[in-house]
Amino acid sequence: MVVDKVLGRLAAGLVLVVGLAGAERAQAQSPPVAPVTVWSVPDIDHLPDDENGRLVRYGRSLVAATYAHIGPEVADASRRYAGNNLACRNCHLDEGRKKFGLLLVGAFVDYPRYSTRRGEEVSIEDRVNSCMTRSMNGRPLPAEGREMQALVAYIRVLSNGLPKDAAVAGQGLQAMAELDRPADPARGAEVYRANCALCHGPGGEGVRRGVRGDALGYATPPLWGEDSFNDGAGMNRLVTIANFVHDNMPNGTSWVMPRLAPEDAWDVAAFVVSQPRPRKADLAADFPDKLDKPVDTPYGPYADGFSESQHRYGPFAPIRAEVARLRAQSR
Ligand code: HEC
Ligand code: HEC
Repeated sequence: MVVDKVLGRLAAGLVLVVGLAGAERAQAQSPPVAPVTVWSVPDIDHLPDDENGRLVRYGRSLVAATYAHIGPEVADASRRYAGNNLACRNCHLDEGRKKFGLLLVGAFVDYPRYSTRRGEEVSIEDRVNSCMTRSMNGRPLPAEGREMQALVAYIRVLSNGLPKDAAVAGQGLQAMAELDRPADPARGAEVYRANCALCHGPGGEGVRRGVRGDALGYATPPLWGEDSFNDGAGMNRLVTIANFVHDNMPNGTSWVMPRLAPEDAWDVAAFVVSQPRPRKADLAADFPDKLDKPVDTPYGPYADGFSESQHRYGPFAPIRAEVARLRAQSR
């Protein structure tokens, strides 16, 4: 097979870019940004046992078992950077290699980039730290520390061979058709009982591997409560969590063959975001230009006159139309 031959010729550390004119040609020219339809990541275990190989493998371990290295229960209190016992891979499925499962392939070549949430250009380290302070409900990792270096080394390997700003198949989340009514937490509670509670627990508390304090994390992560992501996390936005759940849950589901009807995914997502979780301070400062605020951001202030409830549960089309009108007016 052609792919096998090309693979054989590439060094172990390279991502294979096919589906373009050919891997070599895509890398030789200063590349026009074309959709990268197929990618493949190197086998991290086969990287040499040198400083870089060890750093990349430590990064992968940090993604897979964050709680065991920098979680709130590790023995050395100075290394407790994450505020909850989640792992990056609970959301970035398959350690960041699952299409439409918050893929990390291609992320490295997207940075530095402008962040509407911050209103300035951010680095890959800044982006990792937004997941640290929101999804992981913790504090930022120092940029020069071994943990950040390892996470970035791992994320970099996942983008090896990709051109700057490459559009990678499976990156981001899909966009299901939206409901023309608010998503319904009460109906979602029924969907939750039938499809999620078995794994995530009737109270969304997840299932620990061992006992509280052992830094062993969860077999199934919590979806709300004190050990979950905080209210400033991307997963706390309806469009994000609904599309993630539709394409990935129950765990093991693929976007190719989703198990939940879109309506059920919207409503169960509404149920999850209606539940209590840790609060992040100073959320009002997010998105300095309020017209850039995603329509499903569940906290104000907003540029438009819609209620916090409509921002949380939709419908979003009227909000988008109003934001477009305000934007046109402000020009
Ligand atoms: C609770 C779920 C969750 C957890 C846990 C989580 N993330 Fe994220 N992460 C997200 C979401 C949602 C996004 C935004 C995806 C998007 O914008 O398409 C994101 C985005 C990112 C991005 C930017 C990707 C890109 O293509 O721009 C990076 C890098 C990242 N996360 C790294 C991490 C790391 C490292 C950890 C662990 C320390 C982590 N995340 C933990 C949910 C999570
Ligand atoms: C078969 C067990 C199982 C079922 C059923 C299931 N999940 Fe999950 N879910 C998991 C596991 C395991 C993970 C973490 C995946 C990993 O680490 O590889 C996860 C991760 C998640 C995450 C991201 C991590 C977090 O803590 O927020 C969300 C959100 C989620 N599930 C929502 C749901 C919803 C909603 C349903 C019902 C529609 C559901 N899940 C059904 C096992 C399950």
